Amino acid sequence: MTKVMNVAMIGGGFMGKAHAMAYAAMPMFFWPAPAIPHRKVVVDVTDGMAEEARRRYGFEEASSDWRAVVNRPDVDVVDICTPNNVHAEIAIAAAKAGKHIICEKPLARTVEEARAMHDAVKAAGVIHMVAFNYR
Ligand SMILES: NC(=O)c1ccc[n+]([C@@H]2O[C@H](COP(=O)([O-])OP(=O)(O)OC[C@H]3O[C@@H](n4cnc5c(N)ncnc54)[C@H](O)[C@@H]3O)[C@@H](O)[C@H]2O)c1
Repeated sequence: MTKVMNVAMIGGGFMGKAHAMAYAAMPMFFWPAPAIPHRKVVVDVTDGMAEEARRRYGFEEASSDWRAVVNRPDVDVVDICTPNNVHAEIAIAAAKAGKHIICEKPLARTVEEARAMHDAVKAAGVIHMVAFNYR
């Protein structure tokens, strides 16, 4: 049976919409799909914003606590669609929790931040990528 990957998307704004659409459409374009992304939980800064993103983008659950979400055992992928100032903090926490990571561009605010993120994913041995226009 095809593996299901539970996605926790942090940030339910403009790019969150694009990523949610991609998760829904991915198996229609790549078939047989190596894995099926499941829109498990979306996180935003307030419960109300998260719930609105959940309803709009088709996620199962909503949360306003990204720290709790990245540590959930039922989350496989953390998809960071927040503003740039919190990419590093979320990515490093997600890597330490053993989650695979997709992070929106620009990856970080400084080279030092980007290096710390790279060190964290290498140490954790997780798969990681930066979202770019068509990737
Ligand atoms: N790949 C591309 O072509 C492309 C295009 C536009 C934007 N981006 C990038 O995508 C990222 C998001 O941009 P956007 O345009 O979607 O912004 P946006 O403001 O529309 O969405 C960001 C969302 O994150 C939420 N958020 C902020 N801080 C948070 C936190 N601490 N925890 C949880 N949620 C939080 C906001 O409330 C908002 O809903 C940025 O890094 C931006 O540079 C990439």
